[in-house]
Amino acid sequence: MNKIRHLAIIMDGNGRWAKLKNKNRSYGHSRGLENLKSIIKKIINLKVKYLTLYTFSYDNWKRSTNEIKYIFSLLDNYLNKNYFELKKKRINVKFIGEKNRLPINIKKLINLYNSRQEKRSKLNINIAFNYSSKKELLRAIKLIKKKKLSISENNINNNLYTRLFPNPDLLIRTGGHKRLSDFLLWQISYTEIFFVRKLWPDFNSKDLSNIINNFKVIKRNYGK
Ligand code: IPE
Ligand code: IPE
Ligand code: MG
Repeated sequence: MNKIRHLAIIMDGNGRWAKLKNKNRSYGHSRGLENLKSIIKKIINLKVKYLTLYTFSYDNWKRSTNEIKYIFSLLDNYLNKNYFELKKKRINVKFIGEKNRLPINIKKLINLYNSRQEKRSKLNINIAFNYSSKKELLRAIKLIKKKKLSISENNINNNLYTRLFPNPDLLIRTGGHKRLSDFLLWQISYTEIFFVRKLWPDFNSKDLSNIINNFKVIKRNYGK
């Protein structure tokens, strides 16, 4: 049976969820965050050690200022409020993504969390924020050149934002679209991918358990 060490999630569908309820997109994001809290509880119960969450993509800057501001404030509020709670629960939070263009309060939050990495952690969360997989790869190549190293698979792995995480075993995208939207392109070369119809605020623990049960029995070949 397959073990799951690293789960990656593209939490898509908040906007459409809100529209179906005649609410604005921001309301969808707020319910999306509520849902994330309960999914994280389930993930801890399942003893998954690494979790990467697609929270804001580099291309999401194309959205309205209002929506962007709201997403940023949700994140800022949640992580400021729960700093000690997360520490008590031994949950590490780390940000991955580009730091440019981000407002100062978010940069502060990123520095605060990235500098606090507990070794005996229960769960390690990567928040992909202002994240682009292509930009991550370009950054890695530039770092390799600067360090005068050779361009090898190992050196690329070691210069990605995700260098301390194993590659994802499982990737879930909610919201019905079967695409990756510039997320972890290098890291998912052998990841099992599940595309789910449900919109993110509706995706529940039972849905997650079902996927994991299906994942457990997949024969992973790695080319064998
Ligand atoms: C995903 O939901 C959350 C973010 C991109 C921040 P969307 O906002 O993309 O929701 P849909 O896909 O428009 O329904
Ligand atoms: C991907 O969703 C990004 C996040 C979930 C944060 P998008 O809604 O931005 O993706 P596209 O634009 O539909 O591909
Ligand atoms: Mg979307």
